[in-house]
Amino acid sequence: MSQHSETLLLFGATGDLSRRMLLPSLYALHSDELIAPNLRIFGTARSEHGDESFRSFAKEALCEFLPDDRKDEGKIDAFLMRLHYQALDASKPEGFAALAEKIGDISGGLSIFLSTAPFLFEPTIKGLHAAGLAGDNVRIGLEKPLGNDLASSRSINDAVNAVFPESRTFRIDHYLGKETVQNLMALRFGNMLFEPLWNANAIEHVQITVSETVGLEGRAGFYDDTGALRDMVQNHMLQLVALTAMEPPANLDSTAIRDEKVKVLRALRAVQEGDVVTGQYSEGAVKGAPVASYDSDLGKSSDTETFVAIKAFVDNWRWQGVPFYLRTGKRLAERRSEIVIQFKPVPHNIFKDRGGRLEANALIIRLQPEEYVRLLVMAKEPGLDRGGVTLREVPLDLSLTTAFAGSRRRIAYERLLLDLIEGDQTLFVRRDEVEAQWTWVDAIRQLWADTGLKPKNYGAGGWGPNAAIALVERDGVSWHE
Ligand code: BG6
Repeated sequence: MSQHSETLLLFGATGDLSRRMLLPSLYALHSDELIAPNLRIFGTARSEHGDESFRSFAKEALCEFLPDDRKDEGKIDAFLMRLHYQALDASKPEGFAALAEKIGDISGGLSIFLSTAPFLFEPTIKGLHAAGLAGDNVRIGLEKPLGNDLASSRSINDAVNAVFPESRTFRIDHYLGKETVQNLMALRFGNMLFEPLWNANAIEHVQITVSETVGLEGRAGFYDDTGALRDMVQNHMLQLVALTAMEPPANLDSTAIRDEKVKVLRALRAVQEGDVVTGQYSEGAVKGAPVASYDSDLGKSSDTETFVAIKAFVDNWRWQGVPFYLRTGKRLAERRSEIVIQFKPVPHNIFKDRGGRLEANALIIRLQPEEYVRLLVMAKEPGLDRGGVTLREVPLDLSLTTAFAGSRRRIAYERLLLDLIEGDQTLFVRRDEVEAQWTWVDAIRQLWADTGLKPKNYGAGGWGPNAAIALVERDGVSWHE
């Protein structure tokens, strides 16, 4: 089924994600005429609203979160007319009939997006089914977290798949909606240059960093139950590993791509003790501004990790022996998501006798906040070389922002919501991928439980605990700064 839905139903419509991302994204799609004029959007949540007050709520969100140059009074008013609302407590079955009645005719197809706490997924699915909102022309999008371990994720997936087959289930990982993440495939498979070298023969290691400066952002309860491993590694970082390490798919078909990704996820070697470091931020300063410790942000003492660094391996032919160093954390020195492909040194340095020192090449793929691809290559410093050859590492830069100047950077949810409405599953995570991700992550948590590993403190505004530096230094590597 890949047909535009004529109705979109958002659960969690008054939540934070809706205000910050979903409503602004839908407005952007409306304003760029990417969604059909007849698409109706229904919001539901526990808050009491009628259509009118929900429209006012949405308008406030748009005013707060749209960039000024995107605010067009006329377009906003026209967008708001698409919106409708029905209050519902999704944990109780009785409200679903009224929701179905409010929505009315869904013969033109319905896309549903669940941005609610995971404990509501199962009752919601049952309620939708009972109210006739789960037929063949209905697809469902699920926002993370999809459970908190393999068992709970399976139980959610079982409940979802009992009603919605996999072909109508769209699991969101918003990193896949990021333009630069999709560019990874363009870079790897749209160029002859990289793929012949993209393996253990030429690559020494890979680094993936997703660092954040923010702390708990009002989500203390959720975060403390979750921690960095499950909040970031289980999903976003493993998707980046999969896209970096996967074999070339035969085509862009969603099955072909997801088949290749899942092979990588299943080939992840179980992490050994000593190959993982966890941390928790203590007080410090981020970009010059003093910030409190995690415990004081939380208001109690906790052993939850806000940082994790892992030395991972993909056990297959292509990647044998190549470490993938992963690190992510809150309250770090800067906000940065990047992949660094570190190549091996040349086999023989012909410049050595003349004092020419060589650095091995590195390919840096910066996903955010800047968007660029930078290849570090060796070049000769200009001069007559009487005293010897001086070589220097210089960047070959491709700034995507400059190369595609004038094209607006879309937030990930614009792409993902449009794909949901249009029924394209390519950028959504398949059940077997999620389960392979949980299998690997659960084993790490088991290792922590068995060895009693506790997070080490790191000063907010730095790059995590010293042990994370030692993790790579013992291999003669330093984190790319
Ligand atoms: C979310 C995590 O999935 O991703 C948050 O729950 C994190 O803790 C966010 O801050 C990071 O997303 P982005 O797009 O800002 O890199």
